[in-house]
Amino acid sequence: MYPTSRPRRLRTTPALRRLVAETELRPRHLVLPMFVKEGATEPIPIASMPGVVQHTRDSLRKAAVAAVEAGVTGLMLFGVPAARDAVGSAGTDPDGILNAALADVRSEVGDGGVVMSDCCLDEFTDHGHCGVLDEHGRVDNDATLAVYAEMAVAQAAAGAHFVGPSGMMDGQVEVIRRALDAAGHTDTGILAYTAKYASAFYGPFRDAVESRLRGDRKTYQQDPANAREALRELALDLAEGADIVMVKPAMAYLDVLRAVADNSDVPVAAYQVSGEYSMIEAAAANGWLDRDRTILETLTGIRRAGADLVLTYWASEVASWLS
Ligand code: PBG
Repeated sequence: MYPTSRPRRLRTTPALRRLVAETELRPRHLVLPMFVKEGATEPIPIASMPGVVQHTRDSLRKAAVAAVEAGVTGLMLFGVPAARDAVGSAGTDPDGILNAALADVRSEVGDGGVVMSDCCLDEFTDHGHCGVLDEHGRVDNDATLAVYAEMAVAQAAAGAHFVGPSGMMDGQVEVIRRALDAAGHTDTGILAYTAKYASAFYGPFRDAVESRLRGDRKTYQQDPANAREALRELALDLAEGADIVMVKPAMAYLDVLRAVADNSDVPVAAYQVSGEYSMIEAAAANGWLDRDRTILETLTGIRRAGADLVLTYWASEVASWLS
């Protein structure tokens, strides 16, 4: 008995495999997250993220241009301020490091790339939480919304095409949308961190932004056990006016990504976070994984699961491979 149906026939040659590939990964799908540190005089390597640096304002400009020239479409900026306080004042200050860097990058790339900004307080607060605290030390949802609104307007004024609220406060998209519109920034988009999980995979990022967080974010970020809840968050973000929705982290949440993609009528992003980056870099440095193949396989898998765009620290390098 011989098989009459032979799936292997479609795998015979590289050209045939290219012809029938279902999923494509192109530079245009990629968004590069970047860090800029106030007062830095040279790029500072991040020990737990080999290959990633905290930029100076000047090196950030150059890296942003290089990324766009490599074909990367989006740049997501995170600021590391010199001073932090309880309410994250450096985040709303028009001259704060993130806003200054947004203006720098926007003046370099213009509309040739999509300039995005993290709209969250954790990089700017001395306690490290994503919001302001009430008198009991809990993150105060509604008081935080007022700060996000101010922050989003400052970021739009500085030149962000998109703001990315990543704090998982209830109502954040609506409050930011209203604030942007009221300030005349009706064309500034919102990339909503819709399903963001309380994840151990953010560990290296906290080094990258020198976060002071003690404790955890489990009262605002989602429980890794829950998928259905992501659809509730999605419905709310869509109703509130999100232009792009995001799932984060990516690899441990591909089922959530698929569910969100199946239920979203706006583009869907996925964030391949710091820990996903670092574990592959570490394994590759040990000779345990083929680095480049592994990177491409993870990004292809994230695209296959439903991501229209992918935030990844490898964006520039991968774009240079693909273009
Ligand atoms: C919060 C924020 C975090 C990340 C992006 N935005 C950290 C957190 O929620 O603790 C993590 C990104 C990464 O790990 O690469 N502003």
